[in-house]
Amino acid sequence: MAAALRSLYFWILFILSFSTLALAQDQNQFIYNGFHEAKLHLGGIATIHPNGLLQLTNTSERQKGYAFYPSPIKFNTSSSQSLLFSTYFVFGMVPGSLNFSGHGMTFVISPSMDFSEATATAYLGLFNTSNNGLLTNHVLAVELDTVVSPEFKDLDGEHVGIDVNSLISNESALATYFSDSEGKNKSLKLVTGNQTQIWIDYNGAEKLLNVTLAPISVPKPSRPLLSTVIDLSQILLESMYVGFTASTGTIANDHYVLGWSFNRSGKADNLDVSKLPSLPPPPPLSIPSKKGRQIPDSMIIVLVVALSVVLLTIGGAVCIVRKKKYEEIYEGWEREYGPQRISYKNLYKATKGFKDKELIGEGGFGKVYRGVLSSSDQIAVKRVCHNSGQQAMKQFVAEVVSMGRLRHRNLVQLRGYCRRKGELLLVYDYMPNGSLDKVLYSNIRPNLNWFQRIRILRGVASGLLYLHEDWEQIVLHRDIKPGNILLDADLNGKLGDFGLARLYDHGSIPQTTNLVGTVGYLAPEFLRTGKATTSTDVFAFGVFMLEVACGRKPIEPAKVDLVDWVIDCWNKRAILDASDPRLEGLYVEEQLELVLKLGLFCSHPNPDTRPSMRQVMQYLDGDAKFDVSPNSNLLDAFRASYNEASNTVMPFASLFENSSSSHTMSTIDSILNGGR
Ligand SMILES: *[C@@H]1O[C@H](CO)[C@@H](O)[C@H](O)[C@H]1NC(C)=O
Ligand SMILES: *[C@@H]1O[C@H](CO)[C@@H](O)[C@H](O)[C@H]1NC(C)=O
Ligand SMILES: *[C@@H]1O[C@H](CO)[C@@H](O)[C@H](O)[C@H]1NC(C)=O
Ligand SMILES: *[C@@H]1O[C@H](CO)[C@@H](O)[C@H](O)[C@H]1NC(C)=O
Ligand SMILES: *[C@@H]1O[C@H](CO)[C@@H](O)[C@H](O)[C@H]1NC(C)=O
Ligand SMILES: *[C@@H]1O[C@H](CO)[C@@H](O)[C@H](O)[C@H]1NC(C)=O
Ligand SMILES: *[C@@H]1O[C@H](CO)[C@@H](O)[C@H](O)[C@H]1NC(C)=O
Ligand SMILES: *[C@@H]1O[C@H](CO)[C@@H](O)[C@H](O)[C@H]1NC(C)=O
Ligand SMILES: *[C@@H]1O[C@H](CO)[C@@H](O)[C@H](O)[C@H]1NC(C)=O
Repeated sequence: MAAALRSLYFWILFILSFSTLALAQDQNQFIYNGFHEAKLHLGGIATIHPNGLLQLTNTSERQKGYAFYPSPIKFNTSSSQSLLFSTYFVFGMVPGSLNFSGHGMTFVISPSMDFSEATATAYLGLFNTSNNGLLTNHVLAVELDTVVSPEFKDLDGEHVGIDVNSLISNESALATYFSDSEGKNKSLKLVTGNQTQIWIDYNGAEKLLNVTLAPISVPKPSRPLLSTVIDLSQILLESMYVGFTASTGTIANDHYVLGWSFNRSGKADNLDVSKLPSLPPPPPLSIPSKKGRQIPDSMIIVLVVALSVVLLTIGGAVCIVRKKKYEEIYEGWEREYGPQRISYKNLYKATKGFKDKELIGEGGFGKVYRGVLSSSDQIAVKRVCHNSGQQAMKQFVAEVVSMGRLRHRNLVQLRGYCRRKGELLLVYDYMPNGSLDKVLYSNIRPNLNWFQRIRILRGVASGLLYLHEDWEQIVLHRDIKPGNILLDADLNGKLGDFGLARLYDHGSIPQTTNLVGTVGYLAPEFLRTGKATTSTDVFAFGVFMLEVACGRKPIEPAKVDLVDWVIDCWNKRAILDASDPRLEGLYVEEQLELVLKLGLFCSHPNPDTRPSMRQVMQYLDGDAKFDVSPNSNLLDAFRASYNEASNTVMPFASLFENSSSSHTMSTIDSILNGGR
């Protein structure tokens, strides 16, 4: 009897171990048409909905979400030949009610499922500041990134990238797919609420990693979007987890995965599209409208057409009669700048002869006109007077041309130039919403809302960081203020007039004073020494941040200066009282507090206490923590160093003589850490 029992027990054990073996083999391939019964390992705010939809993030700010296949996959890394895998999944990104999108998601192969230390926002929940780029990560990821992060050399738009151990992609491309039926590439929007499919195939024999993207209705394109040579046997370990990460920033969208198949020993099977769960529809938009009464489109078209016909006819007549108006100066040395040279005749026509009607601004450097080159191509033309000699002119033109090579979504693009006697014309992209000061101080309600303001601040910070650190040479702006921030059609902030301050250096502009810049935004040490640095730009940016948050000019007659006023509010433990009344109390408290305190540190009289633009960017993105909790020590530290640096009862007026305090506070970090 006992023997019979023992033998039964043996058989049961045998059968059990056999079936686990079979399962273990299956674990190298799987298919999920929806995730109803999937026992995925979830992390962050990821959840699986009852209909089988895997949601990685919602639209909450600065969140992370993870989902991993729970058992490790065995990769044969002993030789590169035998290593292959293939995966296919359908995902969806649904914008939030403000139609923002951020930050993106990844498919990841990693030695661990623990990403609790990774950072959200631009780090996509994959890495953090200290492990980004380390060879010891052994991480391969394919990123679907919807926000441009210049610090990771991102392409300018929604993009797909292959990332090895780092968020700086080995190879990336804007989201497009090859349409076999039309025989051409077509662009693809990711954050639409529509389903998108992606195939990731690796073949160790060719060492080729292919990534292919397509809308759900299109079969797998014959040409991949990315096809990169890479030896994964050097990167992957034998036992790896596969899954997804996603993150949101101060702007956010929902990230979903609908179905997923993975295969380590052959092509990943297709999903059964009919069985996939459906995506929730995008929420109704709640963007505050800028416009009041709408004029019917047809009427606008008729008006515009009529107006341009009349003006063009008159303009044309004028052109014929006064041909010599088009005279310009063109010298031999300019030949190499041919492509950047724009003829005066074209500019004259585009601006309808520099009519006052087309005048859109007047600044320190000259008048700015709006122009239309072709039906949809609008430009802004800046006329700058100059009286410099040939040598200085040569140098300046060389610089203008090099400024034209600066490319960043938060810089107003310089397109080219033209030269006439005593006059230089600079041609820029046209910004339909004009300069920020006009919008900020207008009485139109609703004014810029908080989300728009913080987006503008982040944008300008990112543009300035690019000028300071990410281009081949350091470019100082020297005149940051709302009047030099221009707004595009979507109210993104762009820095204008960068590099132009150099005109003064070349003596091109008759000058009454050595100082370039605007009173109220000038750092005390600049007023003392006349030497501009990245730190004097940070000072101006600090004042600018305060101005955008408070809706007040830095210096107004019969009013306490903006900086002092914000400090007063902080002293009274009511720093939020400084907020712009036009916001009508609608803001995110922590963000406003961060902007105000960070603005104060940036505009600190002691340059050593100011953060760098890179730090400012990290604080604004939430990638580094700026302590805004009610913390008396932070205030005390600020006050102590502030008083020491200014050493006077009337800070602003006397800053220039007195701020050379020998006792320097160390960097902002030590203040913050000391304040904890
Ligand atoms: C997002 O998910 C988290 C965790 O489930 C929840 O606390 C939060 O309210 C959600 N946010 C939104 C906007 O749905
Ligand atoms: C890994 O690949 C090598 C070379 O192709 C082969 O000899 C070896 O048996 C493979 N190992 C496993 C565990 O499959
Ligand atoms: C949402 O924003 C995108 C660009 O950011 C734009 O193309 C799209 O039309 C917007 N959608 C709506 C419904 O306004
Ligand atoms: C970054 O992540 C690693 C582990 O992935 C962790 O050890 C480290 O402390 C993290 N660093 C920061 C600054 O959070
Ligand atoms: C590309 O991948 C390799 C590993 O194959 C890595 O060592 C290298 O740093 C990556 N290059 C870039 C530009 O990220
Ligand atoms: C989403 O898909 C529908 C149906 O295929 C299509 O008509 C629509 O243009 C798509 N939306 C976007 C923004 O691509
Ligand atoms: C990757 O794409 C290239 C070019 O289309 C193709 O020749 C190769 O077979 C593909 N490799 C894999 C693993 O799909
Ligand atoms: C289409 O996209 C692929 C991959 O990004 C690129 O290599 C190719 O040059 C593009 N073709 C055209 C005609 O733009
Ligand atoms: C994996 O590949 C093998 C061989 O091509 C195929 O028979 C199997 O169906 C695939 N499995 C999945 C889940 O894709």
